[in-house]
Amino acid sequence: AFTPRVFSGIQPSGNLHLGNYLGALKRFAEAQNKGIQTLYCMVDLHAITVWQNPADLARATRELAAGFIASGLDPAKSILFNQSQVAEHTQMAWVFNCVARMGWMQRMTQFKDKAGKNAQNASLGLFAYPALMAADILTYHATHVPVGEDQKQHLELTRDIAIKFNHDYGVEFFPIPEPVIEGAATRVMSLRDGSNKMSKSDPSDMSRINLTDDADTIAKKIRKAKTDPEPLPSEAAGLEGRPEARNLVNIYAALADMTVDQVMAEAGGKPFSEFKPMLADLAVDRIAPISTEMARLMQDLSEIDRILADGAARARTIAAPILRQTYEIMGM
Ligand code: ADP
Ligand code: NA
Repeated sequence: AFTPRVFSGIQPSGNLHLGNYLGALKRFAEAQNKGIQTLYCMVDLHAITVWQNPADLARATRELAAGFIASGLDPAKSILFNQSQVAEHTQMAWVFNCVARMGWMQRMTQFKDKAGKNAQNASLGLFAYPALMAADILTYHATHVPVGEDQKQHLELTRDIAIKFNHDYGVEFFPIPEPVIEGAATRVMSLRDGSNKMSKSDPSDMSRINLTDDADTIAKKIRKAKTDPEPLPSEAAGLEGRPEARNLVNIYAALADMTVDQVMAEAGGKPFSEFKPMLADLAVDRIAPISTEMARLMQDLSEIDRILADGAARARTIAAPILRQTYEIMGM
Protein backbone atom coordinates (compact mmCIF):
# COMPACT_ATOMS: atom_id res chain seq x y z
CA ALA A 1 0.00 0.00 0.00
CA PHE A 2 1.15 3.51 -0.79
CA THR A 3 1.19 6.36 1.70
CA PRO A 4 -1.56 8.81 0.71
CA ARG A 5 -0.04 11.81 -1.04
CA VAL A 6 -1.77 14.64 -2.90
CA PHE A 7 -0.31 16.25 -6.02
CA SER A 8 -1.82 18.95 -8.17
CA GLY A 9 -0.54 21.52 -10.63
CA ILE A 10 -1.79 24.77 -12.08
CA GLN A 11 -0.45 26.47 -15.18
CA PRO A 12 1.04 29.91 -14.56
CA SER A 13 -0.95 31.56 -17.31
CA GLY A 14 -2.15 34.71 -15.56
CA ASN A 15 -5.59 36.15 -14.62
CA LEU A 16 -6.25 34.06 -11.49
CA HIS A 17 -9.97 34.31 -10.75
CA LEU A 18 -12.69 33.34 -8.30
CA GLY A 19 -13.15 29.97 -10.06
CA ASN A 20 -9.48 29.11 -9.56
CA TYR A 21 -9.83 30.12 -5.91
CA LEU A 22 -13.00 28.16 -5.09
CA GLY A 23 -12.25 25.20 -7.38
CA ALA A 24 -8.55 24.85 -6.64
CA LEU A 25 -6.57 27.21 -4.39
CA LYS A 26 -8.97 27.23 -1.44
CA ARG A 27 -9.44 23.47 -1.57
CA PHE A 28 -5.70 22.88 -1.92
CA ALA A 29 -5.07 25.01 1.16
CA GLU A 30 -7.70 23.04 3.10
CA ALA A 31 -6.20 19.69 2.07
CA GLN A 32 -2.87 20.54 3.68
CA ASN A 33 -4.54 20.47 7.10
CA LYS A 34 -5.78 16.90 6.84
CA GLY A 35 -2.52 15.20 7.83
CA ILE A 36 -1.70 14.10 4.26
CA GLN A 37 1.42 15.26 2.43
CA THR A 38 0.48 17.78 -0.26
CA LEU A 39 2.53 18.92 -3.25
CA TYR A 40 1.42 21.84 -5.42
CA CYS A 41 3.27 22.72 -8.56
CA MET A 42 3.32 25.67 -10.88
CA VAL A 43 3.50 23.80 -14.16
CA ASP A 44 5.46 26.20 -16.34
CA LEU A 45 6.64 23.34 -18.58
CA HIS A 46 2.99 22.70 -19.45
CA ALA A 47 2.42 26.39 -20.12
CA ILE A 48 5.18 26.48 -22.77
CA THR A 49 3.40 23.87 -24.91
CA VAL A 50 1.88 27.01 -26.42
CA TRP A 51 3.75 30.30 -26.94
CA GLN A 52 4.48 32.26 -23.75
CA ASN A 53 6.02 35.68 -23.61
CA PRO A 54 9.07 35.17 -21.31
CA ALA A 55 8.50 38.21 -19.09
CA ASP A 56 4.79 37.36 -18.71
CA LEU A 57 5.58 33.74 -17.83
CA ALA A 58 8.10 34.81 -15.18
CA ARG A 59 5.57 37.18 -13.66
CA ALA A 60 2.62 34.76 -13.85
CA THR A 61 4.67 32.07 -12.09
CA ARG A 62 5.39 34.34 -9.15
CA GLU A 63 1.81 35.65 -9.15
CA LEU A 64 0.47 32.10 -8.99
CA ALA A 65 2.79 31.34 -6.07
CA ALA A 66 1.55 34.52 -4.38
CA GLY A 67 -2.05 33.44 -5.11
CA PHE A 68 -1.46 30.07 -3.46
CA ILE A 69 0.04 31.63 -0.35
CA ALA A 70 -2.54 34.43 -0.13
CA SER A 71 -5.28 31.76 -0.37
CA GLY A 72 -3.99 30.14 2.81
CA LEU A 73 -1.45 27.67 1.53
CA ASP A 74 1.38 27.31 4.02
CA PRO A 75 4.67 26.61 2.19
CA ALA A 76 6.01 25.02 5.39
CA LYS A 77 3.18 22.45 5.42
CA SER A 78 2.79 21.89 1.66
CA ILE A 79 5.55 21.62 -0.89
CA LEU A 80 5.00 24.55 -3.25
CA PHE A 81 7.33 24.62 -6.22
CA ASN A 82 7.93 25.37 -9.84
CA GLN A 83 7.97 22.41 -12.24
CA SER A 84 10.99 23.49 -14.30
CA GLN A 85 13.11 23.59 -11.13
CA VAL A 86 12.80 19.84 -10.57
CA ALA A 87 14.43 18.13 -13.55
CA GLU A 88 13.07 14.71 -12.55
CA HIS A 89 9.70 15.69 -14.10
CA THR A 90 11.13 15.87 -17.60
CA GLN A 91 13.37 12.84 -17.08
CA MET A 92 10.38 10.76 -16.00
CA ALA A 93 8.32 12.22 -18.83
CA TRP A 94 10.75 10.69 -21.32
CA VAL A 95 10.31 7.29 -19.70
CA PHE A 96 6.55 7.70 -19.98
CA ASN A 97 6.80 8.83 -23.60
CA CYS A 98 8.21 5.35 -24.13
CA VAL A 99 5.45 3.65 -22.11
CA ALA A 100 2.45 5.53 -23.54
CA ARG A 101 1.18 4.45 -26.98
CA MET A 102 0.59 6.80 -29.90
CA GLY A 103 -3.03 5.65 -30.06
CA TRP A 104 -3.62 6.62 -26.42
CA MET A 105 -2.34 10.14 -27.04
CA GLN A 106 -4.36 10.51 -30.24
CA ARG A 107 -7.55 9.95 -28.23
CA MET A 108 -6.95 12.99 -25.97
CA THR A 109 -9.76 15.43 -26.65
CA GLN A 110 -7.94 18.40 -25.11
CA PHE A 111 -5.19 18.16 -27.74
CA LYS A 112 -7.81 18.26 -30.46
CA ASP A 113 -9.47 21.27 -28.79
CA LYS A 114 -6.25 23.19 -28.20
CA ALA A 115 -4.53 22.34 -31.47
CA GLY A 116 -7.63 23.28 -33.44
CA LYS A 117 -7.83 22.78 -37.17
CA ASN A 118 -4.12 23.24 -37.74
CA ALA A 119 -2.88 20.28 -35.67
CA GLN A 120 0.19 19.85 -37.90
CA ASN A 121 1.39 23.19 -36.60
CA ALA A 122 0.85 22.40 -32.90
CA SER A 123 3.98 21.80 -30.84
CA LEU A 124 5.09 18.22 -30.22
CA GLY A 125 5.01 19.18 -26.55
CA LEU A 126 1.28 19.91 -26.71
CA PHE A 127 0.74 16.39 -28.04
CA ALA A 128 3.01 14.76 -25.43
CA TYR A 129 1.74 16.94 -22.56
CA PRO A 130 -0.27 14.13 -20.88
CA ALA A 131 2.91 12.05 -20.46
CA LEU A 132 4.52 14.98 -18.65
CA MET A 133 1.42 15.26 -16.48
CA ALA A 134 1.74 11.56 -15.64
CA ALA A 135 5.35 12.21 -14.68
CA ASP A 136 4.34 15.15 -12.47
CA ILE A 137 2.08 12.84 -10.50
CA LEU A 138 3.89 9.51 -10.52
CA THR A 139 7.38 10.88 -9.79
CA TYR A 140 6.00 11.54 -6.30
CA HIS A 141 4.01 8.30 -6.06
CA ALA A 142 1.02 10.59 -5.55
CA THR A 143 -2.19 8.70 -4.77
CA HIS A 144 -4.75 11.51 -4.99
CA VAL A 145 -4.99 14.19 -7.64
CA PRO A 146 -7.49 17.07 -7.37
CA VAL A 147 -8.43 17.83 -10.98
CA GLY A 148 -11.10 19.72 -12.87
CA GLU A 149 -13.48 17.85 -15.21
CA ASP A 150 -11.32 18.88 -18.17
CA GLN A 151 -8.32 16.97 -16.79
CA LYS A 152 -10.16 13.70 -16.07
CA GLN A 153 -9.14 12.11 -19.36
CA HIS A 154 -5.49 12.99 -18.74
CA LEU A 155 -5.61 11.45 -15.28
CA GLU A 156 -7.10 8.32 -16.84
CA LEU A 157 -4.04 8.23 -19.12
CA THR A 158 -1.77 8.61 -16.07
CA ARG A 159 -3.46 5.55 -14.57
CA ASP A 160 -2.98 3.63 -17.84
CA ILE A 161 0.72 4.53 -17.88
CA ALA A 162 1.17 3.39 -14.27
CA ILE A 163 -0.68 0.13 -14.97
CA LYS A 164 1.31 -0.59 -18.15
CA PHE A 165 4.67 0.17 -16.50
CA ASN A 166 3.87 -2.06 -13.52
CA HIS A 167 2.67 -4.82 -15.85
CA ASP A 168 5.55 -4.60 -18.37
CA TYR A 169 8.21 -4.77 -15.64
CA GLY A 170 6.31 -7.09 -13.30
CA VAL A 171 6.40 -4.68 -10.39
CA GLU A 172 3.94 -2.86 -8.12
CA PHE A 173 6.05 0.26 -8.31
CA PHE A 174 3.69 3.07 -9.27
CA PRO A 175 0.40 3.70 -7.43
CA ILE A 176 -2.74 4.02 -9.56
CA PRO A 177 -3.75 7.56 -8.60
CA GLU A 178 -7.36 8.50 -7.86
CA PRO A 179 -8.96 11.70 -9.17
CA VAL A 180 -10.47 14.04 -6.62
CA ILE A 181 -13.09 15.85 -8.71
CA GLU A 182 -14.42 19.24 -7.72
CA GLY A 183 -18.13 19.28 -6.79
CA ALA A 184 -20.73 21.17 -8.85
CA ALA A 185 -20.95 23.80 -6.11
CA THR A 186 -17.32 24.73 -6.72
CA ARG A 187 -17.69 25.00 -10.50
CA VAL A 188 -17.97 28.74 -10.83
CA MET A 189 -19.73 30.00 -13.95
CA SER A 190 -19.32 33.26 -15.83
CA LEU A 191 -21.06 36.28 -14.30
CA ARG A 192 -22.27 37.20 -17.79
CA ASP A 193 -24.23 34.07 -18.73
CA GLY A 194 -24.20 31.46 -15.97
CA SER A 195 -23.70 28.57 -18.39
CA ASN A 196 -20.02 28.92 -19.38
CA LYS A 197 -17.24 28.38 -16.84
CA MET A 198 -15.66 31.46 -15.35
CA SER A 199 -12.41 31.49 -17.27
CA LYS A 200 -9.20 33.46 -17.62
CA SER A 201 -9.62 33.37 -21.39
CA ASP A 202 -13.06 35.04 -21.44
CA PRO A 203 -12.53 38.35 -23.26
CA SER A 204 -15.00 40.10 -20.94
CA ASP A 205 -13.35 41.15 -17.67
CA MET A 206 -16.87 41.57 -16.21
CA SER A 207 -17.39 37.81 -16.58
CA ARG A 208 -14.99 36.99 -13.75
CA ILE A 209 -13.74 38.25 -10.42
CA ASN A 210 -9.98 38.35 -10.61
CA LEU A 211 -8.01 37.64 -7.47
CA THR A 212 -6.25 40.95 -8.15
CA ASP A 213 -9.51 42.97 -8.16
CA ASP A 214 -9.95 45.55 -5.39
CA ALA A 215 -13.05 45.75 -3.20
CA ASP A 216 -14.90 48.28 -5.38
CA THR A 217 -14.31 46.25 -8.54
CA ILE A 218 -15.51 43.04 -6.87
CA ALA A 219 -18.70 44.73 -5.64
CA LYS A 220 -19.34 46.32 -9.04
CA LYS A 221 -18.96 43.04 -10.92
CA ILE A 222 -21.45 41.33 -8.63
CA ARG A 223 -23.89 44.22 -8.86
CA LYS A 224 -23.73 43.96 -12.68
CA ALA A 225 -23.84 40.15 -12.83
CA LYS A 226 -26.55 38.95 -15.21
CA THR A 227 -29.69 37.57 -13.55
CA ASP A 228 -33.30 36.87 -14.48
CA PRO A 229 -36.00 39.24 -13.15
CA GLU A 230 -37.57 36.84 -10.60
CA PRO A 231 -36.59 36.92 -6.92
CA LEU A 232 -34.71 33.90 -5.53
CA PRO A 233 -36.96 30.86 -5.11
CA SER A 234 -37.77 29.77 -1.58
CA GLU A 235 -35.98 26.41 -1.96
CA ALA A 236 -32.95 25.03 -3.81
CA ALA A 237 -35.19 23.00 -6.16
CA GLY A 238 -36.50 26.28 -7.58
CA LEU A 239 -33.03 27.09 -8.95
CA GLU A 240 -33.55 24.44 -11.63
CA GLY A 241 -33.44 26.08 -15.07
CA ARG A 242 -32.13 29.38 -13.64
CA PRO A 243 -28.37 29.10 -14.26
CA GLU A 244 -27.47 32.70 -13.34
CA ALA A 245 -29.35 32.53 -10.02
CA ARG A 246 -27.92 29.11 -9.28
CA ASN A 247 -24.40 30.35 -9.97
CA LEU A 248 -24.70 33.28 -7.56
CA VAL A 249 -26.15 31.02 -4.86
CA ASN A 250 -23.37 28.47 -5.44
CA ILE A 251 -20.74 31.20 -5.16
CA TYR A 252 -22.32 32.42 -1.94
CA ALA A 253 -22.37 28.90 -0.51
CA ALA A 254 -18.74 28.21 -1.45
CA LEU A 255 -17.49 31.54 -0.08
CA ALA A 256 -19.45 31.15 3.16
CA ASP A 257 -18.64 27.43 3.56
CA MET A 258 -22.37 26.75 3.65
CA THR A 259 -24.54 24.25 1.79
CA VAL A 260 -26.89 25.54 -0.90
CA ASP A 261 -29.84 24.61 1.37
CA GLN A 262 -28.38 26.72 4.17
CA VAL A 263 -28.03 29.67 1.80
CA MET A 264 -31.62 29.22 0.64
CA ALA A 265 -32.81 29.13 4.24
CA GLU A 266 -31.18 32.53 4.69
CA ALA A 267 -31.82 34.19 1.33
CA GLY A 268 -34.72 32.29 -0.29
CA GLY A 269 -37.43 34.64 -1.63
CA LYS A 270 -35.20 37.72 -1.63
CA PRO A 271 -35.01 39.84 -4.79
CA PHE A 272 -31.56 40.22 -6.36
CA SER A 273 -31.57 43.85 -5.22
CA GLU A 274 -31.13 42.38 -1.72
CA PHE A 275 -29.19 39.21 -2.45
CA LYS A 276 -26.51 40.83 -4.63
CA PRO A 277 -25.38 43.26 -1.91
CA MET A 278 -25.20 40.31 0.55
CA LEU A 279 -23.06 38.41 -1.95
CA ALA A 280 -20.93 41.48 -2.73
CA ASP A 281 -20.19 42.00 0.99
CA LEU A 282 -19.25 38.36 1.41
CA ALA A 283 -17.08 38.30 -1.73
CA VAL A 284 -15.28 41.49 -0.73
CA ASP A 285 -14.78 40.07 2.78
CA ARG A 286 -13.19 36.85 1.40
CA ILE A 287 -11.46 37.99 -1.79
CA ALA A 288 -10.21 41.54 -1.12
CA PRO A 289 -7.77 40.34 1.61
CA ILE A 290 -6.36 37.80 -0.86
CA SER A 291 -5.87 40.53 -3.44
CA THR A 292 -4.15 42.75 -0.84
CA GLU A 293 -1.91 39.92 0.33
CA MET A 294 -0.97 38.98 -3.26
CA ALA A 295 0.01 42.58 -3.95
CA ARG A 296 2.12 42.62 -0.78
CA LEU A 297 3.86 39.37 -1.69
CA MET A 298 4.53 40.61 -5.23
CA GLN A 299 6.51 43.52 -3.76
CA ASP A 300 9.24 41.08 -2.74
CA LEU A 301 9.88 38.69 -5.60
CA SER A 302 13.12 37.44 -4.03
CA GLU A 303 11.11 36.09 -1.08
CA ILE A 304 8.77 34.25 -3.47
CA ASP A 305 11.79 32.85 -5.31
CA ARG A 306 13.27 31.70 -2.00
CA ILE A 307 10.03 29.89 -1.10
CA LEU A 308 9.94 28.22 -4.53
CA ALA A 309 13.61 27.19 -4.34
CA ASP A 310 13.00 25.67 -0.92
CA GLY A 311 9.93 23.83 -2.27
CA ALA A 312 11.92 22.51 -5.24
CA ALA A 313 14.67 21.19 -2.96
CA ARG A 314 12.09 19.35 -0.82
CA ALA A 315 10.28 18.03 -3.90
CA ARG A 316 13.56 16.66 -5.23
CA THR A 317 14.17 14.63 -2.05
CA ILE A 318 11.04 12.63 -3.01
CA ALA A 319 11.42 12.67 -6.80
CA ALA A 320 15.12 11.77 -7.14
CA PRO A 321 14.99 8.33 -5.41
CA ILE A 322 11.79 7.39 -7.29
CA LEU A 323 13.39 8.29 -10.65
CA ARG A 324 16.55 6.35 -9.70
CA GLN A 325 14.47 3.25 -8.82
CA THR A 326 12.51 3.63 -12.06
CA TYR A 327 15.76 3.58 -14.07
CA GLU A 328 17.00 0.57 -12.08
CA ILE A 329 13.80 -1.37 -12.74
CA MET A 330 14.31 -0.65 -16.45
CA GLY A 331 17.97 -1.74 -16.42
CA MET A 332 19.54 1.70 -16.59
P1 ADP B 1 -5.12 24.80 -16.03
O1 ADP B 1 -4.97 24.95 -17.51
O2 ADP B 1 -3.86 24.76 -15.27
O3 ADP B 1 -6.10 23.73 -15.64
P2 ADP B 1 -7.14 26.64 -15.30
O4 ADP B 1 -7.05 28.09 -15.06
O5 ADP B 1 -8.06 26.12 -16.35
O6 ADP B 1 -5.69 26.21 -15.59
O7 ADP B 1 -7.47 25.91 -13.96
C1 ADP B 1 -6.67 25.95 -12.81
C2 ADP B 1 -7.43 25.27 -11.69
O8 ADP B 1 -8.60 26.01 -11.37
C3 ADP B 1 -7.92 23.86 -12.05
O9 ADP B 1 -7.85 23.05 -10.89
C4 ADP B 1 -9.34 24.08 -12.47
O10 ADP B 1 -10.16 22.95 -12.25
C5 ADP B 1 -9.76 25.23 -11.56
N1 ADP B 1 -10.77 26.05 -12.22
C6 ADP B 1 -10.59 26.80 -13.34
N2 ADP B 1 -11.72 27.46 -13.67
C7 ADP B 1 -12.65 27.12 -12.73
C8 ADP B 1 -14.02 27.47 -12.50
N3 ADP B 1 -14.67 28.33 -13.29
N4 ADP B 1 -14.67 26.93 -11.43
C9 ADP B 1 -14.02 26.08 -10.61
N5 ADP B 1 -12.73 25.71 -10.76
C10 ADP B 1 -12.04 26.22 -11.80
NA1 NA C 1 -7.89 23.83 -17.43
